[in-house]
Amino acid sequence: MTGFSIDWLDLREAADRRSRNDKLLHQARHWLGSDREQTAELNIVDLGAGTGSTLRAFSTAVESDQKSLSWHLLDQDAALLAEATSRHGASHRLQTYELDITNIFALPLEDADLITASALFDLVSADFIDALVTALRSRCQQKPAGLYAALNYDGTTRWTPTHTLDQAVLDAFNRDQRNNKGFGLALGPDAGPYMELMFSRSGFRVFSANSPWVLDGADIKLVDALIDGIGDAVSKDPALDASELKGWILFRKAHSLTGTCEVGHTDLLALPDTV
Ligand SMILES: C[S@@+](CC[C@H](N)C(=O)[O-])C[C@H]1O[C@@H](n2cnc3c(N)ncnc32)[C@H](O)[C@@H]1O
Repeated sequence: MTGFSIDWLDLREAADRRSRNDKLLHQARHWLGSDREQTAELNIVDLGAGTGSTLRAFSTAVESDQKSLSWHLLDQDAALLAEATSRHGASHRLQTYELDITNIFALPLEDADLITASALFDLVSADFIDALVTALRSRCQQKPAGLYAALNYDGTTRWTPTHTLDQAVLDAFNRDQRNNKGFGLALGPDAGPYMELMFSRSGFRVFSANSPWVLDGADIKLVDALIDGIGDAVSKDPALDASELKGWILFRKAHSLTGTCEVGHTDLLALPDTV
């Protein structure tokens, strides 16, 4: 069990989809098709693929031919991968790999043209990103390969109406975001800037764009689940008083239909300088 249920991934998918930066998504697809034979098979390796949300984003946002794309979905959760196969196995070239992705050098990246991920990199450590940069750089010695990383949480959350505890809760939440999520100490909100720095330093051309969740009463189920998730994550933080936190949760739930919530993310595309 990883704690990422099909229900939770389904609940967030509409917000994720409309938040992804379409320009970067199109740029990624265009780059994949450029300078290659029309008939060539293009391998996309999706890390922490879940039920296939990045595959769906590519399929719906990008009008070009999907037939040449061969998807390799990597995740440690067999139930999520089975769901991905049941949803897309008949319509897409798709292979799933049930494995722990923490050791980059053991992953099936040898044929990758593009590595993708969404809502993953805030969970990983700086060491993981360093290894990913090295693996991609070495892959590029055979064939150019890029990285498309969507929906990296950036540490900002803004609510309306405001509450006096908002900042303290956000600070506690961001502290929790930096705890070990299975990859060593997590980058959390630093993931986007760290990737930008490391891929640029390694000679990749890096493009990044904001991709915030902008939520209102139409997203009430997601907003309520987010409030619960934040409440759970910060419940043991010594800087927060338990009864004040309870009051914050009640206030937030009382306004989830009429208020708004913006959660900051960034999308990133790193392309080798060779193409
Ligand atoms: C927030 S979910 C995102 C799923 C999907 N990319 C999406 O956007 O809907 C994070 C995913 O990473 C996977 N994951 C987390 N740690 C992992 C690990 N060490 N090895 C493989 N998969 C992992 C989880 O199982 C989950 O599917």
